[in-house]
Amino acid sequence: MSIQLNSKFCESFNIRYPIVLAGMAGIANMVTLVTAVSNAGGLGTLGAAYMNPEELREAVREIKQHTHAPFAVNIFAHVEPDQYINFDAVNKEMDSIRESLGVKRRAIDEIRTPHDFEEQFDILLDEQVPVISTTFGLLSEHHMEQAQSLGIKIMGTVTTVEEAIQAEKRGCDVIVAQGSEAGGHRGTFDVTSQPNGANIGTMALVPQIVDHVHIPVIAAGGIMDGRGVVASLALGAQGVQMGTRFLTSVESGAHEVYKRALLDSTENSTVMTNAFSGRPARGIRNDFIQQWEASHIKPLPFPTQNTLTREIRNASARQNNPAYMALWAGQGTRMLTSNQSAEAIINQIVEEVRSIIPL
Ligand SMILES: Cc1cc2nc3c(=O)[nH]c(=O)nc-3n(C[C@H](O)[C@H](O)[C@H](O)COP(=O)(O)O)c2cc1C
Repeated sequence: MSIQLNSKFCESFNIRYPIVLAGMAGIANMVTLVTAVSNAGGLGTLGAAYMNPEELREAVREIKQHTHAPFAVNIFAHVEPDQYINFDAVNKEMDSIRESLGVKRRAIDEIRTPHDFEEQFDILLDEQVPVISTTFGLLSEHHMEQAQSLGIKIMGTVTTVEEAIQAEKRGCDVIVAQGSEAGGHRGTFDVTSQPNGANIGTMALVPQIVDHVHIPVIAAGGIMDGRGVVASLALGAQGVQMGTRFLTSVESGAHEVYKRALLDSTENSTVMTNAFSGRPARGIRNDFIQQWEASHIKPLPFPTQNTLTREIRNASARQNNPAYMALWAGQGTRMLTSNQSAEAIINQIVEEVRSIIPL
């Protein structure tokens, strides 16, 4: 086996380096970061899941204005659950937090989550984005055919070998193998039977997936520098997807207190929690997570829990208080750098890779 930075993945996606910026829904001003990564030779991904159709179209058009390089758009392909089981208990638990932040109490009929998936998807087709990436599940066969007939490439996130096999069968062009070190939500398809998601580390997950599929595999989770890229390539991946590393970049729209919490954190600061959204996700342990865990209450299913906690998270951010914000982060945060542009991060990683293996 030979290790190559310029992989088949690069060739088929028409990018210089096999470094993918993770789509990070909820992070402000993602367009700037996406275009910086794509212009630097990586593949920038817009985290579009929480955007309404107008915002999404505008963001895609803005990206096109600022780069001629390929980019991806990430959306959530989850099944909509029965949304309001356990509402009163969860809502009551939020009250003391709301009170401390000056946020109004909400009744059940005020918590509505718009389901914009079909409209979002139509916009991506209409705008003929180069790549669509999904998490929490796969596109339906129909959606897959629609996108691929327009030449759009599809990346599917998986957390087990079984999910990877399903993704290949469904027709994904590339698989993102997301290890449990990863920041943000687990991509696990079915969290009803596995409430904490599948928690296999990147080191164990990537080679097992590589052994069971024929399409390119991209490693994700805890990869922060050239060493992580070389390790991923050695495990058989054709590239990496990185989220956390870019959160403290110059172009990142992450809130300043979030950036500070990331830079102050250690390998031991994060936990897996479903407190914020109802789906398991890795973030820096804070008061919100601790209070939720102490309550032992089952969260509302995603996305209703996410909608219910949004005002709390937003108020906490407005007050520069990290205690009730979702501080999504992977386990590699001691390797973070500050005040580096996305381009400098990519160039540094490529240099590090080249210093480890002559490519
Ligand atoms: C702040 C943040 C938000 C994220 N949002 C998304 C998302 O919207 N869609 C997605 O597929 N993955 C999302 N992820 C997960 C990433 O795709 C990726 O798996 C993860 O960042 C890799 O691990 P790392 O953070 O250690 O690099 C997010 C990650 C972070 C840190």
